[in-house]
Amino acid sequence: MKKRVIYSAIQPSGMMTLGNYIGAVSNWRDIQADGANDCIFALADLHTITVRQDPEKLRRNSVSFLALLLAAGIDPKRSVLYVQSHVHEHAELCWLLNCYTYVGEMNRMTQFKDKSAKHSDNINMGLMDYPVLMAADILLYKSDQVPVGVDQMQHIEIARDIAERFNNIYGETFVVPEGRLTKTGAKIMSLQDPTSKMSKSDPNPNGVISVLDSADDIARKIKRSVTDSGLEIVFDPENKPGVSNLLTILASAEGKTVEEEVKAFEGKMYGHLKVACAEAVVEMLRPFREKYDAYMSDEAGLLAVAADGRERAQAIAAKTLADVKRKIGLLV
Ligand code: TRP
Repeated sequence: MKKRVIYSAIQPSGMMTLGNYIGAVSNWRDIQADGANDCIFALADLHTITVRQDPEKLRRNSVSFLALLLAAGIDPKRSVLYVQSHVHEHAELCWLLNCYTYVGEMNRMTQFKDKSAKHSDNINMGLMDYPVLMAADILLYKSDQVPVGVDQMQHIEIARDIAERFNNIYGETFVVPEGRLTKTGAKIMSLQDPTSKMSKSDPNPNGVISVLDSADDIARKIKRSVTDSGLEIVFDPENKPGVSNLLTILASAEGKTVEEEVKAFEGKMYGHLKVACAEAVVEMLRPFREKYDAYMSDEAGLLAVAADGRERAQAIAAKTLADVKRKIGLLV
């Protein structure tokens, strides 16, 4: 039986937040554990440079993110794990797909508008082309499903549109991918403003936990997190976003459901919830941190994992690209 191809990628920029870990990467590990899936995971470094990066930092971050993914349980024997810029087919397919994508479509993308406002001194072509590169990532591997957060769903829609458009002109070429929303309830919010997503670019460092924060920092940030008026511990993201966020984090860290946590905290106070949440996150990240340190002490080993991933990814990508070129009428 043919396995389902699952594709996702993460940018090696800044830190990996608790939100990335719970909302995305630990989800990847669960998807990888399902024998019906063929998983391909990438470091989307070509996407990262749409915002200006310090070269040395970018390099260090790429190595670090490889270690983070391995520590989180991505197994390079079961999944393909590689670096986007290592496989030149991505940039090449992106160019080809550009010729089947309209400027108007890209102009309307929410993330493009947001990032243009935020980086108004550097609205480069790459920023505008970001969704087409993402479509190339996904379509090169004939991906069936793409696990992403809500904020990336519009990019999946565009990838589907481009795939369908191409297939209509040239015949069945691409698999039209489906977005797969990461587990609902697994969206982690800022600890200081629980109505907005926990983000590595949060101007308030107390709102965001890095998976590499010390145990003390983690506990401090959770204990100082913003909670809501009232006393009762209930899951109600609308009216009690702070408490609900802590319940989500606690449930994820302990591998329980939010309902189970609510029950366990009946009659208790916000302070109890914070202490339990801090402990659970510290305990969850302790073994993770140990594995991360071990991987980081062997950079050559990390680069060897990436080199192996590159070979396996490229074997697939090269075939798709050749097929696309042939269909368009380029000499191959
Ligand atoms: N844009 C995604 C993000 O920032 C990362 C990404 C790049 C991606 N290429 C992808 C995700 C392909 C899924 C599929 O989160």
